[in-house]
Amino acid sequence: MSDKKTSNQMWGGRFASGPAAIMEAINASISFDRKLYAQDIRGSIAHSEMLAQTGIISAADQEKIAHGLNTILKEIEAGTFEFSTRLEDIHMNVEARLADLIGSAAGRLHTARSRNDQVAVDLRLWVKDECFRVAEALKGLIGALLERAGEHAATVMPGFTHMQAAQPVTFGHHCMAYVEMFSRDLSRVRDAIERMDESPLGAAALAGTSFPIDRHQTARALGFREPMRNSLDSVSDRDFALEFLAMAAICATHLSRLAEEIIIWSTPQFGFIRLSDSFSTGSSIMPQKKNPDAAELVRGKTGRINGHLVGLLTVMKGMPLTYGKDMQEDKESVFDAAETLDLMLAAMTGMVSDMTVNAAAMKKAAGSGHATATDLADWLVRTLGLPFREAHHVTGRAVALAEDKKVSLEKLALEDLQSINPGITSDIFSVLAVQNSVKSRTSFGGTAPSEVRKQIRAWKKRIAKA
Ligand code: ARG
Repeated sequence: MSDKKTSNQMWGGRFASGPAAIMEAINASISFDRKLYAQDIRGSIAHSEMLAQTGIISAADQEKIAHGLNTILKEIEAGTFEFSTRLEDIHMNVEARLADLIGSAAGRLHTARSRNDQVAVDLRLWVKDECFRVAEALKGLIGALLERAGEHAATVMPGFTHMQAAQPVTFGHHCMAYVEMFSRDLSRVRDAIERMDESPLGAAALAGTSFPIDRHQTARALGFREPMRNSLDSVSDRDFALEFLAMAAICATHLSRLAEEIIIWSTPQFGFIRLSDSFSTGSSIMPQKKNPDAAELVRGKTGRINGHLVGLLTVMKGMPLTYGKDMQEDKESVFDAAETLDLMLAAMTGMVSDMTVNAAAMKKAAGSGHATATDLADWLVRTLGLPFREAHHVTGRAVALAEDKKVSLEKLALEDLQSINPGITSDIFSVLAVQNSVKSRTSFGGTAPSEVRKQIRAWKKRIAKA
């Protein structure tokens, strides 16, 4: 590589000596933005083709440029490319190597372009690709949840509020709540793709260019819907990165909530599920233990992603238009959030698919804590015509009586119940059993197995098309 000169060869004309070591250290981004090599080369090839077609450079030079760039692509992928910190970033590393390979024609590539629109297009392409990856991973996770929901559409478990057993629900219904959440993430990522699908290339440094470029052509060639309409906005906008991070943070938050539930459910105290050996670890000292490390890491890694969102929001909040070097700080947050989210989604999909559900333990817990008290109250309203408040009061007395007798509500004798309200008949027992309780909740979106199955069918169709 030709980075032996003391002053930077890209803008060395004005600079007498090379940068101080500290300057080089704070300025260089090559250690992380090398990740953008494929997008950078793709962008440059599209730009050179457009320059040739508009007659700004010759076809012969364009051919040399494209050939050289493809050679560089191969070198990077083979691991033989020598990245140089002196050359600061991926853009200048590639361009310097191009000069080594093809000589003076390399200097024509940067016509009607700046690193400002170059980096904006590179990162956009990268984030857009990542969004498609996340969409696929989300579909995988949703598919796994739909499977489990189908198996357990009628498996009764306690539904919780305040982490206290509230009313019986089905495990299928609980899984479907996460299907709703992850489907919103999927629609968020699709919306984000829609908005980021515009090309900043050709905005040049900030003001556009006097060369007769065709921004529509480069936009099309790079798979964007259209070019961005304002050159200042093109180089200064990082909304696409922020939207990606915001989507990632919300999705990670959903993953973290599910991870938390998995951790609770897999404790010996709950015993609702058992994680497979592939997604848990043993303890080096306590042989009886099986720890939900993957779930804990999903919960823990959410902190990093949320941090990256706040980090980039903070970088951007003080940026006057247009570009400032602050914006170089956009990449590490995006890259780390992407890598982390991909891993979290894969681990969660694995855990959900592999876990064993202990339906008996769930059912037992669903019946404890007088979980069908609301069903009793509803029965009093429906059958005896009591106002709900009065029914609530009668039910409270029944619960107190059950506690006195140390039995669950459904185990109270009919005479006991009649001592509280003489109108109660044996029909009451049809709603006090947990299975009947869930079966009766047939309101739209309710936990009745029939309703849950309807939702599963609808989502399977939607996801197949998504
Ligand atoms: N490495 C820079 C970044 O990531 C590229 C753009 C540099 N532009 C500039 N005017 N210094 O932001």
